[in-house]
Amino acid sequence: MIRVNQHYSKLQNSYLFLDIGRRKKAFEDAHPEKTIINLGVGDVTEPLPKACRDALHAAADEMGDRATFRGYGPEQGYPFLREAIAHHDFHSRDADVGPDEIFISDGAKCDSANLQELFAVNTRVAIPDPVYPVYLDTNVMAGRSGGFAEGRYKDIVYLDSTPENGYIPHLPEEPVDLIYLCFPNNPTGAVATTAQLQSWVDYARENCAIILFDAAYEAYIRNPELPHSIYEIEGAREVAIELRSFSKNAGFTGTRCAFTVIPRDLQAWDRDGDKQSVHAMWGRRQSTKFNGVSYPIQRAAAAVYTPEGQAEIRTLTDFYIENARIIRESMRELGFPCTGGDNSPFLWFRTGGDSWAFFDRLLEHAGVVCIPGTGFGTCGEGHIRIGAFNSRENIELAMERTIKALK
Ligand code: MLT
Repeated sequence: MIRVNQHYSKLQNSYLFLDIGRRKKAFEDAHPEKTIINLGVGDVTEPLPKACRDALHAAADEMGDRATFRGYGPEQGYPFLREAIAHHDFHSRDADVGPDEIFISDGAKCDSANLQELFAVNTRVAIPDPVYPVYLDTNVMAGRSGGFAEGRYKDIVYLDSTPENGYIPHLPEEPVDLIYLCFPNNPTGAVATTAQLQSWVDYARENCAIILFDAAYEAYIRNPELPHSIYEIEGAREVAIELRSFSKNAGFTGTRCAFTVIPRDLQAWDRDGDKQSVHAMWGRRQSTKFNGVSYPIQRAAAAVYTPEGQAEIRTLTDFYIENARIIRESMRELGFPCTGGDNSPFLWFRTGGDSWAFFDRLLEHAGVVCIPGTGFGTCGEGHIRIGAFNSRENIELAMERTIKALK
């Protein structure tokens, strides 16, 4: 008899963003006269940069000519893209990352979900609370947690991000092996300083742990003092994997292109205590399970690094940062303390009380969708996340309605 992976039965509800989408749809069906503004899921609304579109067209034409047509590409990604990334995203910030340490993929979500399979089932996992749900759910699916009780899975080490610690978690008090960090943070928008990241890297080196560092929102950092990559931190090459994406800087949520950096220095241990190269293991995994991102999409992503592309993604991210400013100012009128939005497209508001009740109230009275904080973990109670991804018109209308409904 075929048996299911029993760990799936531990999962709570459906995937958070699916659940929000269903509630939005149910409300729309019940109130067809109302227009809903979605500031929930962080999906971009502004079109692809012209530099990317031009590269996409040109690459499509190449695919239509026998002389320049391409079949399967290299699983790790085309060298032209990996070289551009190494130069612009890392060398320019004195971060030591080689093109051969970059793996092009179709999404940071998939990579963050898949990377855990390289590690033993009894790996002790530390996950911030609140957190992007993928890190937690995929470890539950893999069997690294016990059951769910009082809002938390057993055997997972939760790293509380609270108003008291400025939403930057403290180091764990017990030993852990795999640590998930995301800065600029989803959902809180908080960004760790160099000193804070250094303490995590030092911890990982002392404890033979690995940090999975999600930097999908780094293009939103405006404070020049803040690190964009974990490889700006001394010793990080030995202990950190970094995830990046073209989704939020260049609007590729529908186009799909991202990358993961795994330095050659990064090691994990087998059961005999021998060191294994995580880079080699991920290469083996990708060549078995992945056939690469399409050539035209990689050309479009590489166009991000041209002077025109760089100017356009700056304009794009500035646009969403301005949206965030409008949201922050409006919510301030209502008296809700806020983090994020200045170096991040997400704003995290302390609303107090039941966060699902706040979600319902905002939807019902203002026709605005946010994400209730508890969707990201127990520490999210009393908070909501508002995303800055929408047109200016919709952001202004959403805030006008919110102020009217809640004042
Ligand atoms: C979010 O809203 O947290 C993100 O858009 C989800 C994602 O990137 O997968």
